[in-house]
Amino acid sequence: MVAATHQTSEGWSSRWAFILAAIGAAVGLGNVWRFPTLAGENGGGAFVLFYIGCVVLIGLPLVLSEILVGRAGRSDAVGSTRNVAAASGRSSRWAVLGWVEIITAFLIVSFYSVVAGWVFYYVGVMGVDFFGALASGDPFASAFQGEAAETVQGRLGGLLGNPWMLIAMHVVFMGVTFWVVASGVHDGIEKAAIWLMPAFFVLLIGITIYGAVVGDMTETLAFMFQPDFSRLTAQAMNEALGQALFSMSLGSAALMTYGAYVSRETKLAPTAAMIAFADTGVAIIAGLMIFPIVFAVGLDPAAGPTLVFQSLPVAFQQMPAGSLIGFLFFVLIFFAALTSSISLLEGPTSWGINERGWSRGKSAGIFAFCAFLIGVLCALGYNILSDVRPLGFWNIFAEADILDTVDGFTGKVMLPVAALLTAIFVGWRADKKLVENESGLEGAMFGVWRFLVAWVSPIAVGLILVFGLFPGLVPQ
Ligand code: PFF
Repeated sequence: MVAATHQTSEGWSSRWAFILAAIGAAVGLGNVWRFPTLAGENGGGAFVLFYIGCVVLIGLPLVLSEILVGRAGRSDAVGSTRNVAAASGRSSRWAVLGWVEIITAFLIVSFYSVVAGWVFYYVGVMGVDFFGALASGDPFASAFQGEAAETVQGRLGGLLGNPWMLIAMHVVFMGVTFWVVASGVHDGIEKAAIWLMPAFFVLLIGITIYGAVVGDMTETLAFMFQPDFSRLTAQAMNEALGQALFSMSLGSAALMTYGAYVSRETKLAPTAAMIAFADTGVAIIAGLMIFPIVFAVGLDPAAGPTLVFQSLPVAFQQMPAGSLIGFLFFVLIFFAALTSSISLLEGPTSWGINERGWSRGKSAGIFAFCAFLIGVLCALGYNILSDVRPLGFWNIFAEADILDTVDGFTGKVMLPVAALLTAIFVGWRADKKLVENESGLEGAMFGVWRFLVAWVSPIAVGLILVFGLFPGLVPQ
């Protein structure tokens, strides 16, 4: 630990509380539908293998780096980087790393809450369907009986075209996120993780077994794991690396902030490994959960973002117990999204508490409200403001509506910049002894980890940044 100002007094009540909260941060919308879709579109097994390589060689070393800076600095992301820089005899300007992370988190939570609002809407739609079936004495009915497939699919379009409904769902989701964060590390964030994550895992395993029994697992295994290296293009590798950063909650203050609440006794390296392993495991299992259902009714596995909201409800219409499973499926995604958005709001909130002296409630309230307003613009981008292209002058964002712009800008620019700065800071600028002590790694293990942080991560992340911004340079 380094002696410094603005240190937090809050902490996790146990190592497991931290592990569950950090896994909750990592496991989110990114795992449940984005990873399986990307894997399917980009060459199945070849993509999965490359993704696992990214996790082990880049993601995991950076997860440990972020948690370590947080625990050493014991503050918000800005305060922690400043404290570690001071203890290493470096410029306080390294606080810029914390700034980038906090701004990234703030922007991500604004659109994340809108998409999570769609999930909440579907929890409601499927819930009404399921409880209707239950009331009529048939809890194992398939979903949406008597409705045309077009009507079921059309719900997403109906939702996106309805600004009031979108904003209402967004308000509820942001409100719940605020309430948990305002309740504190111990009474809010930790409690949410301790209840929601085990429930998430039970649902994940249960629905996967259901899919394996009634769905088409053989086709799923071929689709996700049969390696087709010809489809692993530079573009696909770029996607894999970006997805690994987002999925592990890197570059967005979450891990650094959560790291500040970790006790001195906790060994960070095995904990970081557990987080990375759980996140990747959930991404793969999510594929094994979704695709058997998709294939069972002959739907297109590469439908992209609409897969979960349009294709799956149609699948549930044709599956035994589809009403119940569909309801549980959206509850599962809702839990995953909530523990992630909590971690996103906690980064900026902790800055307000430590650097501004605000109360937790005030800080969480200010950031939740401002992020809510940006989210409202994102929601209106599907209807009233559908012609707006905020970064239309920039070719890679030329077609992007408001939500896609915030998503694309944070994902392609801010998040890789934050990861790059983290790698340079921890690999080159932070005091080596301090880093070694804090990491808990010794000898050759420390050497390997430091090499990955100092050399492999900056080069790989630098490449995603350049190729992400200038796709024309990507070799085809
Ligand atoms: N990791 C989350 C997901 O996969 O959905 C998203 C996320 C959460 C990103 C927290 C960044 C973060 F700080």
